[in-house]
Amino acid sequence: MPDEAGAPIAAERHSQGKRRRIIFPPAIGTLGTPAYMKRVELFNELGPDSVLMMGDNPALPPMPEKPTLLDFFRRRFHPRGVNHLLQSANLARKAGLPEKLVLACLVHDIANVALVGSDHGYWGAQLIGPYVEEEVSWAVRYHQALRFFADEAAGYTYPEAYIRYFGADYVPPPYIQAAHREARAHRWYMSARQITIYDVYAFDPNTIVPLEEFTDIIGRHFRQPEEGLGFDGSPVAHMWRSIIWPNNFL
Ligand SMILES: [Fe+2]
Ligand SMILES: [Fe+2]
Repeated sequence: MPDEAGAPIAAERHSQGKRRRIIFPPAIGTLGTPAYMKRVELFNELGPDSVLMMGDNPALPPMPEKPTLLDFFRRRFHPRGVNHLLQSANLARKAGLPEKLVLACLVHDIANVALVGSDHGYWGAQLIGPYVEEEVSWAVRYHQALRFFADEAAGYTYPEAYIRYFGADYVPPPYIQAAHREARAHRWYMSARQITIYDVYAFDPNTIVPLEEFTDIIGRHFRQPEEGLGFDGSPVAHMWRSIIWPNNFL
């Protein structure tokens, strides 16, 4: 292998190649579990042959210099999550939804696929905010709350899965209830509601929808920055970089 021989591999990887790189689990993924308190023990393992992970983690596919949304779908997002998003977008497209809402369905869960589950609608809306029409990020933001409230008239019943996930007695917290009320009174209510409608039936692992079918819709409704996601200096660039390098100590 060329990296063992050392020759054509980038300097950074060569110089770090002989050293073990320790991954320090992020606070947000461990807080509230024993792993959070145990993280500090990793400092005891540091030495001449062991450093903390910085830069590309070889366990992850390398990202291009100027990553596009599709690169994140292909090289970072979990295949099961991608499948869910593709099925959701596919159902929305078949139902004849406007392209921008098909895109909203395609990206509605990117936060819990690659960043954080808690309040994922809000994180997801932020990730896409600078690159889509305001209605699209608004819809992604509010699908977070609307998932918890049935709207039978619109064709959305409370998900069976949530009874399994959270128990039959689960009551959403006041801020989610308030967001639901806000959304219902908003002119874009149905846009966020559509995400929940095409979300709930989109978990079939046997239906394969190729990502390439949405290339045009992404091209028309997602303003891909020329410098690449993570490097355009936008207020959310750091969030995309954290997905590129999720294991960096700092
Ligand atoms: Fe979601
Ligand atoms: Fe979803």
